[in-house]
Amino acid sequence: MDRILSQKNILITGGTSALGSAFVREALQAGATVYFTYHQNEARAKELTELGAKGFPLNLADQEAIDHFQREFRSQLKILHVLIHNAALTHDATIQNMSEKDWDETISVNLKAPYLLIKKLLALLFRAKPSKIFFIVSHAALQGIFGASNYAASKAGLVGLAKSLAQELGRKEVLVNCVNPGFMKSRMTEGLPESVIEKNLRESTLGKLSDPGEVAKFLVYLSSDQMTQVSGQVFHFESRKT
Ligand SMILES: NC(=O)c1ccc[n+]([C@@H]2O[C@H](COP(=O)([O-])OP(=O)(O)OC[C@H]3O[C@@H](n4cnc5c(N)ncnc54)[C@H](OP(=O)(O)O)[C@@H]3O)[C@@H](O)[C@H]2O)c1
Repeated sequence: MDRILSQKNILITGGTSALGSAFVREALQAGATVYFTYHQNEARAKELTELGAKGFPLNLADQEAIDHFQREFRSQLKILHVLIHNAALTHDATIQNMSEKDWDETISVNLKAPYLLIKKLLALLFRAKPSKIFFIVSHAALQGIFGASNYAASKAGLVGLAKSLAQELGRKEVLVNCVNPGFMKSRMTEGLPESVIEKNLRESTLGKLSDPGEVAKFLVYLSSDQMTQVSGQVFHFESRKT
């Protein structure tokens, strides 16, 4: 790939995820300076650091830790071109069985943390014209999902947040969009029963799982100056029959 991200500073949360790590690799190859956050996967974080990215350990459920991180980040960087909210967790249960703790943690990591980070990093984004914010969302945001209402609500919240911020920040040349990567093999999905994976394949028009590498390349394109006129949209990496 051409170095279409040279001179771009990019921060992605959850750089150690299946999609996040594919993106970090692609963005480095495309010439970006890449910063990422991670939670527990030290081994993957070390691999990415050795490739040239800079990792920050950060529990996105911990508001004080986010505050500490943003201070450190802002002391190192004066301009940010792209912010990608990719880290997410699931605590699946039907509503009768869902504890308040599992509801709160899912909303904190998936939805509140993006709000907190944007508030703190907006000044850095304003210095880049244009700058971009991406939210990694899910089919669940629009269609709901049985047994994961907390996750679906968090992702639907991100869609509403993106569409609102696109309106608030458009004149300041901050573009805000969502990407639904489709159903991928990752830690998030590895524990799911085979029947759920088969159901996803059955419902997919293309009849296959998403490839994080291809989603990462699409995100590299969206992060580049080749895309400057799209905001408030949700890009779907899958098409569903239902
Ligand atoms: N997999 C799918 O089929 C699918 C479908 C639709 C949408 N998505 C979305 O795509 C994105 C990437 O998904 P994925 O499947 O690639 O993820 P994944 O491999 O399961 O990794 C999850 C990421 O979130 C981080 N994380 C989890 N809890 C955290 C916390 N408390 N604080 C900070 N970071 C935390 C993890 O960090 P550590 O690994 O360092 O602990 C990891 O980087 C997510 O937004 C997900 O919702 C995935």
